[in-house]
Amino acid sequence: MEQNDTVRAIHYSNFPREPGDFYATPDWVTEALLRHVRLRGPVWEPCCGTGDMAEVLSRHGHAVVATDVADHGYGTPGIDIFGCTTYPGGCRSLVTNPPYGDGGSLADRTRSPAALLRFVRHTLALAEAAQGQAALLVRLQWIAGQRAAALLSSGPFVATIVLTRRIRWFDRGELTNSGQHHHAWVVFDYAEPPGGAPQLLFAG
Ligand SMILES: C[S@@+](CC[C@H](N)C(=O)[O-])C[C@H]1O[C@@H](n2cnc3c(N)ncnc32)[C@H](O)[C@@H]1O
Repeated sequence: MEQNDTVRAIHYSNFPREPGDFYATPDWVTEALLRHVRLRGPVWEPCCGTGDMAEVLSRHGHAVVATDVADHGYGTPGIDIFGCTTYPGGCRSLVTNPPYGDGGSLADRTRSPAALLRFVRHTLALAEAAQGQAALLVRLQWIAGQRAAALLSSGPFVATIVLTRRIRWFDRGELTNSGQHHHAWVVFDYAEPPGGAPQLLFAG
């Protein structure tokens, strides 16, 4: 398979990696979050892609501000989360499937965890500024890394929601692989008193 900056092998699969780490999240994943977490709104989806998560949030009655650094034909494009210093439009919570959350390709294996750490660190700073909530979808295994564990423990980490079903990121008919990895929601809430232990929850 050809290797370049925009098309790389997905870890253990034959499908090309999408430019900008765009993957649409199946609805049941966001619904699993909403079964366990009462979000204070409006909700910011800062990496909205084609709006799959944002639409589920809207259907569940939340006002949603949807932005993305790229133009995927949904929400407001051109907004780089790393250029933001606060949640927009009075949002009190943030929900997203971040880029790099899938952990990256074989070639990216050493880089992607660090990129996700940077993303989570920045998101926590934004959540703290808003005294708000943040829910991020990450690979379950990522949580167990020393640096991830330290970062997660540094914020008001209120819950891990482990998805007992594996996510299928692509639907390519008969060629569709079963998902390779388990994922989890990590949830933070700056309105909670510090020092509490996170809940361990399951959904699927
Ligand atoms: C894994 S996709 C998730 C899309 C959507 N949240 C979903 O779950 O269906 C990641 C998205 O992050 C966007 N993205 C990448 N880097 C970004 C950045 N620095 N700021 C905002 N969005 C970014 C990409 O354009 C892509 O749409």
